Amino acid sequence: MAVEHKIVQKQMLAPDVVSVWLQAQQIARVRKPGQFIILRIAEGSERLPLTIADVDPAAGTIRLIVQAVGKTTRQLAELEVGQAIRDVVGPLGKPTHLENFGHAVCVGGGVGTAVVYPIAQALAGLGNKVTAIVGGRTKDYVILESELAQFCTEVIPTTDDGSYGRKGFVTTALKDLLDGSPNPPIKAIYAVGPVPMMKAVSELTRPYAIYTVVSLNPIMVDGTGMCGGCRVTVNGKSQFACVDGPEFDGHLVDFDELSDRLKTYREAESQALKRYEQHQCKLKGTL
Ligand code: FAD
Ligand code: NAD
Ligand code: FES
Repeated sequence: MAVEHKIVQKQMLAPDVVSVWLQAQQIARVRKPGQFIILRIAEGSERLPLTIADVDPAAGTIRLIVQAVGKTTRQLAELEVGQAIRDVVGPLGKPTHLENFGHAVCVGGGVGTAVVYPIAQALAGLGNKVTAIVGGRTKDYVILESELAQFCTEVIPTTDDGSYGRKGFVTTALKDLLDGSPNPPIKAIYAVGPVPMMKAVSELTRPYAIYTVVSLNPIMVDGTGMCGGCRVTVNGKSQFACVDGPEFDGHLVDFDELSDRLKTYREAESQALKRYEQHQCKLKGTL
């Protein structure tokens, strides 16, 4: 019997960024921070990997935070409360390595904040002092600040244009934090966002020799280590992000290769989005 994955709650967090809670009872019970799901909106749809941002085991629901960047994420963001998703597979991937470090910093770039959110929550639960740095292009793109403030000691918002919080990239605020003799000393950094941001954070923390974890987002297909689509190079060795990750030591990741591989299907992806937009316009009678 097919399991229903109805959307029970939906909220816009930023332009093109939506938070949805959907029914996924088994996953809600067993998921650990750092894990993700792969969903298909309908029979025959593309398989879409998304981090489990939060869970409510009692209600049997999971929270996904989605940035509509292409056809499938756009389709998902357009679903309304009461509509259902065809299938949701998970939890997938290795859970985050968590311990009481004393002081940990979680750095979220744009929608990457959705990925560090459950990690920050778990670190705080283990008794860590947690500082969060959350960056967005402008004020509207800074997400989850007040939710993080519920358990983080400090939340530092940044915007590229200075429209809110500190002006500059997340790395500017992180450098100030590292150089400011933090007490207790920072022993771990978790950074998730665009690939250039994760690379920049890893380069920044390298001379400080602070354990730095990044969550990689290569193209994924099966999510079980079989297809090779999510291959990344870590410490000179091939790893499959879906089963060996998605989190890795940022000081060992080949970010340039990841950037190149993410471009593989760019032309096909942009054509798929164009066709989808034309189809939607036809349906609405605006074409
Ligand atoms: P596509 O047509 O596939 O692509 C549109 C654009 O997005 C293109 O410019 C393309 O280069 C870029 N793109 C394609 N695939 C990816 C990718 N895997 N990562 C980054 N950019 C991509 N997104 C969220 O919004 N929230 C999440 O919580 C989240 N968690 C993820 C967890 C994992 C383990 C992985 C691998 C990815 C995660 N992503 C997340 C990224 C998300 O899966 C992609 O944005 C999505 O696959 C794009 O699908 P699309 O059909 O909408 O766009
Ligand atoms: P964005 O391009 O608006 O950047 C967000 C923030 O990241 C910026 O405000 C800035 O503070 C920081 N940043 C960007 N480039 C930087 C650089 N070169 N150096 C230092 N800091 C930099 O981000 P967006 O549009 O919200 O996109 C989010 C990105 O996160 C996407 O590229 C998506 O693929 C990625 N993502 C990753 C995962 C994952 O699991 N790893 C999950 C979801 C999204
Ligand atoms: Fe196929 Fe990881 S997605 S091997």
